[in-house]
Amino acid sequence: MRKITANVYMTLDGRGAFPKYPGSDRPSRTATALFRHMWIARYGDVSTVVMGRRSFLGHRRVWSGKARKPEDPKFCHEYSSFLDGVDKVCLSRHLKAPGWENSRILKGDIARILTKLKQEKGGNIMVEGGPRVVKEVLQRGLADDYWFFVMPVVYGKGPQYWGALKGQTTLKLVETKHGEDGEILLHYEAVRGGK
Ligand SMILES: NC(=O)c1ccc[n+]([C@@H]2O[C@H](COP(=O)([O-])OP(=O)(O)OC[C@H]3O[C@@H](n4cnc5c(N)ncnc54)[C@H](OP(=O)(O)O)[C@@H]3O)[C@@H](O)[C@H]2O)c1
Repeated sequence: MRKITANVYMTLDGRGAFPKYPGSDRPSRTATALFRHMWIARYGDVSTVVMGRRSFLGHRRVWSGKARKPEDPKFCHEYSSFLDGVDKVCLSRHLKAPGWENSRILKGDIARILTKLKQEKGGNIMVEGGPRVVKEVLQRGLADDYWFFVMPVVYGKGPQYWGALKGQTTLKLVETKHGEDGEILLHYEAVRGGK
Protein backbone atom coordinates (compact mmCIF):
# COMPACT_ATOMS: atom_id res chain seq x y z
CA MET A 1 0.00 0.00 0.00
CA ARG A 2 1.32 3.46 -0.88
CA LYS A 3 2.25 5.48 2.20
CA ILE A 4 1.19 9.15 2.52
CA THR A 5 3.71 11.48 4.14
CA ALA A 6 2.90 15.14 4.86
CA ASN A 7 5.77 17.63 5.03
CA VAL A 8 5.26 20.49 7.46
CA TYR A 9 7.71 23.39 7.05
CA MET A 10 7.14 25.70 9.97
CA THR A 11 8.57 28.30 12.32
CA LEU A 12 8.49 27.76 16.09
CA ASP A 13 5.14 29.56 16.21
CA GLY A 14 3.58 27.29 13.61
CA ARG A 15 3.80 29.65 10.64
CA GLY A 16 4.17 28.27 7.13
CA ALA A 17 6.91 30.65 6.10
CA PHE A 18 10.61 30.59 5.19
CA PRO A 19 12.18 33.44 7.19
CA LYS A 20 15.88 34.21 7.15
CA TYR A 21 18.00 33.24 10.17
CA PRO A 22 21.76 32.86 10.61
CA GLY A 23 22.90 30.27 8.07
CA SER A 24 19.59 29.98 6.22
CA ASP A 25 20.78 31.87 3.16
CA ARG A 26 24.38 30.69 3.19
CA PRO A 27 25.21 29.76 -0.42
CA SER A 28 26.02 26.08 -0.56
CA ARG A 29 27.17 23.85 -3.39
CA THR A 30 26.04 20.76 -1.51
CA ALA A 31 22.76 19.70 0.06
CA THR A 32 22.42 19.88 3.83
CA ALA A 33 22.07 16.64 5.78
CA LEU A 34 18.38 17.41 6.39
CA PHE A 35 17.75 18.04 2.68
CA ARG A 36 19.47 14.75 1.86
CA HIS A 37 17.32 12.97 4.44
CA MET A 38 14.02 14.60 3.47
CA TRP A 39 14.45 14.56 -0.29
CA ILE A 40 17.49 12.95 -1.88
CA ALA A 41 17.06 9.73 0.12
CA ARG A 42 13.44 9.57 -1.00
CA TYR A 43 13.77 10.14 -4.77
CA GLY A 44 13.56 6.39 -5.24
CA ASP A 45 10.44 5.73 -3.16
CA VAL A 46 8.20 8.79 -3.69
CA SER A 47 6.38 8.74 -7.00
CA THR A 48 3.54 11.24 -6.40
CA VAL A 49 3.79 14.74 -4.89
CA VAL A 50 0.55 16.50 -3.91
CA MET A 51 0.36 20.28 -3.50
CA GLY A 52 -2.27 22.95 -3.05
CA ARG A 53 -2.55 25.35 -5.98
CA ARG A 54 -0.48 28.10 -4.41
CA SER A 55 2.35 25.77 -3.40
CA PHE A 56 2.26 24.05 -6.79
CA LEU A 57 2.65 27.38 -8.61
CA GLY A 58 5.41 28.43 -6.20
CA HIS A 59 7.31 25.18 -6.78
CA ARG A 60 6.81 25.46 -10.56
CA ARG A 61 8.26 28.98 -10.54
CA VAL A 62 11.26 28.19 -8.32
CA TRP A 63 11.98 24.47 -8.67
CA SER A 64 10.97 23.27 -12.16
CA GLY A 65 13.85 22.34 -14.48
CA LYS A 66 13.00 25.42 -16.55
CA ALA A 67 13.84 27.60 -13.53
CA ARG A 68 17.36 26.15 -13.19
CA LYS A 69 20.41 28.08 -14.28
CA PRO A 70 23.52 26.19 -15.46
CA GLU A 71 25.54 27.59 -12.54
CA ASP A 72 23.09 26.29 -9.90
CA PRO A 73 24.48 23.55 -7.62
CA LYS A 74 24.21 20.00 -8.88
CA PHE A 75 21.82 18.99 -6.07
CA CYS A 76 19.39 21.74 -7.14
CA HIS A 77 19.45 20.42 -10.73
CA GLU A 78 18.83 16.92 -9.38
CA TYR A 79 15.93 18.10 -7.20
CA SER A 80 14.38 19.90 -10.19
CA SER A 81 14.80 16.77 -12.34
CA PHE A 82 13.08 14.73 -9.65
CA LEU A 83 10.18 17.21 -9.45
CA ASP A 84 9.88 17.45 -13.25
CA GLY A 85 9.68 13.68 -13.55
CA VAL A 86 7.49 12.78 -10.58
CA ASP A 87 3.70 12.51 -10.87
CA LYS A 88 2.46 15.84 -9.50
CA VAL A 89 -1.07 16.48 -8.25
CA CYS A 90 -2.16 20.10 -8.02
CA LEU A 91 -5.30 20.58 -5.93
CA SER A 92 -7.32 23.39 -7.47
CA ARG A 93 -10.83 24.40 -8.38
CA HIS A 94 -9.65 27.29 -10.54
CA LEU A 95 -6.42 26.42 -12.34
CA LYS A 96 -7.13 25.40 -15.93
CA ALA A 97 -3.76 23.98 -17.00
CA PRO A 98 -0.80 22.97 -14.83
CA GLY A 99 1.93 24.25 -17.17
CA TRP A 100 4.37 21.69 -15.76
CA GLU A 101 5.06 18.24 -17.20
CA ASN A 102 3.71 15.12 -15.45
CA SER A 103 1.11 17.16 -13.56
CA ARG A 104 -2.62 16.78 -13.13
CA ILE A 105 -5.20 19.04 -11.53
CA LEU A 106 -7.64 17.40 -9.13
CA LYS A 107 -10.46 18.90 -7.13
CA GLY A 108 -12.95 17.72 -4.56
CA ASP A 109 -12.83 16.30 -1.08
CA ILE A 110 -9.19 15.78 -0.13
CA ALA A 111 -9.89 12.53 1.72
CA ARG A 112 -11.45 11.05 -1.42
CA ILE A 113 -8.60 12.33 -3.59
CA LEU A 114 -5.94 10.79 -1.32
CA THR A 115 -7.85 7.52 -1.01
CA LYS A 116 -8.03 7.26 -4.80
CA LEU A 117 -4.33 8.08 -5.16
CA LYS A 118 -3.48 5.38 -2.62
CA GLN A 119 -5.30 2.86 -4.77
CA GLU A 120 -3.29 3.76 -7.88
CA LYS A 121 -0.10 1.87 -8.70
CA GLY A 122 3.11 3.57 -7.67
CA GLY A 123 5.47 4.38 -4.86
CA ASN A 124 4.83 6.56 -1.86
CA ILE A 125 2.89 9.84 -1.86
CA MET A 126 4.18 13.09 -0.41
CA VAL A 127 1.91 15.98 0.52
CA GLU A 128 4.21 18.97 0.09
CA GLY A 129 2.09 21.88 1.33
CA GLY A 130 0.87 24.42 1.61
CA PRO A 131 -0.24 25.00 5.17
CA ARG A 132 -3.93 25.00 4.29
CA VAL A 133 -3.75 21.55 2.71
CA VAL A 134 -1.47 20.10 5.41
CA LYS A 135 -3.73 21.40 8.18
CA GLU A 136 -6.68 19.61 6.64
CA VAL A 137 -4.66 16.42 6.16
CA LEU A 138 -3.61 16.45 9.82
CA GLN A 139 -7.02 17.35 11.24
CA ARG A 140 -8.69 14.62 9.25
CA GLY A 141 -5.95 12.07 9.94
CA LEU A 142 -5.22 11.45 6.26
CA ALA A 143 -1.45 10.88 6.36
CA ASP A 144 0.50 7.88 7.60
CA ASP A 145 3.34 10.03 8.80
CA TYR A 146 4.44 13.65 9.20
CA TRP A 147 7.81 15.30 8.83
CA PHE A 148 7.97 18.61 10.69
CA PHE A 149 10.87 20.77 9.53
CA VAL A 150 11.02 23.35 12.32
CA MET A 151 12.97 26.58 11.80
CA PRO A 152 14.50 28.36 14.85
CA VAL A 153 12.38 31.50 14.49
CA VAL A 154 9.27 32.82 16.20
CA TYR A 155 8.04 34.69 13.15
CA GLY A 156 4.72 36.25 14.09
CA LYS A 157 3.35 36.45 10.54
CA GLY A 158 2.55 34.29 7.53
CA PRO A 159 0.05 31.45 7.10
CA GLN A 160 -0.76 29.77 10.41
CA TYR A 161 -0.75 25.96 10.32
CA TRP A 162 -2.72 25.47 13.45
CA GLY A 163 -4.85 28.15 15.13
CA ALA A 164 -8.09 26.71 16.46
CA LEU A 165 -8.47 23.05 15.50
CA LYS A 166 -11.45 20.77 15.67
CA GLY A 167 -9.79 18.35 18.07
CA GLN A 168 -6.61 16.78 19.38
CA THR A 169 -4.27 14.75 17.18
CA THR A 170 -1.82 12.43 18.90
CA LEU A 171 1.27 11.31 17.02
CA LYS A 172 4.05 8.82 17.73
CA LEU A 173 7.61 10.07 17.52
CA VAL A 174 9.77 8.05 15.11
CA GLU A 175 12.97 10.10 15.02
CA THR A 176 14.48 13.55 15.42
CA LYS A 177 17.38 15.13 13.57
CA HIS A 178 19.18 18.43 14.01
CA GLY A 179 20.08 20.73 11.15
CA GLU A 180 23.35 22.64 11.10
CA ASP A 181 21.64 26.02 11.62
CA GLY A 182 19.28 25.17 14.47
CA GLU A 183 16.53 23.47 12.49
CA ILE A 184 14.93 20.31 13.87
CA LEU A 185 13.34 17.57 11.84
CA LEU A 186 10.63 15.73 13.77
CA HIS A 187 9.31 12.57 12.18
CA TYR A 188 6.00 11.35 13.61
CA GLU A 189 3.74 8.50 12.67
CA ALA A 190 -0.03 8.73 12.79
CA VAL A 191 -1.69 6.91 15.67
CA ARG A 192 -4.80 5.30 14.27
CA GLY A 193 -7.73 6.09 16.53
CA GLY A 194 -5.36 8.21 18.62
CA LYS A 195 -7.36 11.38 19.10
N1 LIG B 1 5.71 23.31 0.86
C1 LIG B 1 5.25 24.50 0.58
O1 LIG B 1 4.98 24.77 -0.55
C2 LIG B 1 5.06 25.53 1.65
C3 LIG B 1 5.46 25.25 2.94
C4 LIG B 1 5.28 26.22 3.93
C5 LIG B 1 4.76 27.43 3.58
N2 LIG B 1 4.39 27.69 2.29
C6 LIG B 1 3.80 29.02 2.01
O2 LIG B 1 2.39 28.86 2.11
C7 LIG B 1 1.71 29.72 1.19
C8 LIG B 1 0.76 28.91 0.34
O3 LIG B 1 0.03 28.02 1.16
P1 LIG B 1 -1.56 28.07 1.33
O4 LIG B 1 -1.86 27.21 2.47
O5 LIG B 1 -2.01 29.47 1.33
O6 LIG B 1 -2.02 27.47 -0.05
P2 LIG B 1 -1.93 25.98 -0.69
O7 LIG B 1 -2.34 24.97 0.33
O8 LIG B 1 -0.65 25.80 -1.39
O9 LIG B 1 -3.04 26.15 -1.79
C9 LIG B 1 -4.36 26.40 -1.41
C10 LIG B 1 -5.21 26.19 -2.64
O10 LIG B 1 -5.24 24.81 -2.96
C11 LIG B 1 -6.48 24.50 -3.55
N3 LIG B 1 -7.12 23.42 -2.80
C12 LIG B 1 -6.90 23.08 -1.52
N4 LIG B 1 -7.66 21.98 -1.20
C13 LIG B 1 -8.32 21.65 -2.31
C14 LIG B 1 -9.23 20.62 -2.62
N5 LIG B 1 -9.61 19.70 -1.72
N6 LIG B 1 -9.74 20.57 -3.88
C15 LIG B 1 -9.37 21.48 -4.78
N7 LIG B 1 -8.49 22.49 -4.53
C16 LIG B 1 -7.99 22.55 -3.32
C17 LIG B 1 -7.28 25.78 -3.59
O11 LIG B 1 -6.97 26.37 -4.85
P3 LIG B 1 -8.07 27.05 -5.81
O12 LIG B 1 -8.30 28.39 -5.21
O13 LIG B 1 -7.44 27.06 -7.14
O14 LIG B 1 -9.29 26.16 -5.73
C18 LIG B 1 -6.67 26.59 -2.46
O15 LIG B 1 -6.82 27.97 -2.64
C19 LIG B 1 2.81 30.39 0.40
O16 LIG B 1 3.03 31.66 0.98
C20 LIG B 1 4.02 29.52 0.61
O17 LIG B 1 5.26 30.23 0.55
C21 LIG B 1 4.51 26.75 1.35
